[in-house]
Amino acid sequence: MILSKIRTAVVGLNMGLEHAHAYKLAERSELRWVVDLDEERAAKVAEELGCSYTTDWTSILDDVDAVSLCTPHHLHAPQALQAIAAGKHVLLEKPLANSEQDCMNVIRAAEAKNVTLMLAFVVRFLPAIRKLKEAVDSGQYGRPVSAQGWVEAYLNPVPGTWFASKEKLGGGVLFSHGCHYIDILLYLLGEPARVSHFGTRVGTEWMEGEGTSHGIIEFKSGALAHLVSSWGMKYKKTPAKFQLHMTEGMLELDNSMWKVLAVSKSGTETLYERPKEYPVRPGQNVLFEIEHFLESIATGRRPETDGHEILKSHRTIWAMYASLGVPVNL
Ligand SMILES: NC(=O)c1ccc[n+]([C@@H]2O[C@H](COP(=O)([O-])OP(=O)(O)OC[C@H]3O[C@@H](n4cnc5c(N)ncnc54)[C@H](O)[C@@H]3O)[C@@H](O)[C@H]2O)c1
Repeated sequence: MILSKIRTAVVGLNMGLEHAHAYKLAERSELRWVVDLDEERAAKVAEELGCSYTTDWTSILDDVDAVSLCTPHHLHAPQALQAIAAGKHVLLEKPLANSEQDCMNVIRAAEAKNVTLMLAFVVRFLPAIRKLKEAVDSGQYGRPVSAQGWVEAYLNPVPGTWFASKEKLGGGVLFSHGCHYIDILLYLLGEPARVSHFGTRVGTEWMEGEGTSHGIIEFKSGALAHLVSSWGMKYKKTPAKFQLHMTEGMLELDNSMWKVLAVSKSGTETLYERPKEYPVRPGQNVLFEIEHFLESIATGRRPETDGHEILKSHRTIWAMYASLGVPVNL
């Protein structure tokens, strides 16, 4: 058990800004460095959070125990391998890597070096998701029948962005954003048996991969799930983030991902609502995963979202991408 503070750094300060705030909030961490190729951005964050900054992340490895890598997807494998080779614990933003081979290389390297490798699947660690899992596993609402999820966003096309490149992104919206919710579906409903998928670039022609995705999973239990993910939905009026129909009830996660409702013969019940001790502030949503990462380092325990766990949902997505559909002849 490590008792002293874990010296941390964050590389990439867009999503990484949340990590930096969370490291600042977390008791076990001493945030020492923030890093971005954009020096002005790094300097601004460093001043706000009271730490050092640089544009060269490789130069600070001697001064930290653990690093969050929050960079574009095609950099995940090479950067993770470099940090692991230096003996650092790594919290890697999703996805693990863009190919199965790269994922396995990173997993094996971390195991060989005996360092903690955790994937930043922020949604998994949200209290409402824990409540949802507890409700499903309790049996109180019967068995899962059908899950529906909606991940709706609208991204403005930025010319030349890495998001537009299928190779750099590792696919389209399903792999990049939907991956959180495929992970949650596996977490809640168990092992998948068969999948199918359709993706389209209509409305997101700036992307090489699909900007809108409809995926279906049949689970070994027989339950079905349907996930819609999109970066091309300008106007939205969504009932929820998830609805999970059970044999004896319906569980619903709202769009804020902080509220869970249960509908059953006893009426509608609020199972979870954002409590006051979790205020709306920078870093709060990722604080749960950051604390899990720091605890895994301190105790030497396997993080819940380690490489092997996350590879299951990546493999599910790759199987979805490989599914072809059947042409219709009228
Ligand atoms: N969990 C979530 O909800 C969530 C949301 C958004 C993004 N992400 C993930 O975060 C990661 C980054 O995505 P983003 O949207 O912040 O991307 P982005 O392109 O907006 O920002 C990436 C930042 O990293 C910096 N950067 C790139 N290469 C660097 C390097 N070698 N050294 C230092 N800095 C470097 C860039 O200058 C930029 O500021 C991706 O893995 C993405 O999937 C997660």
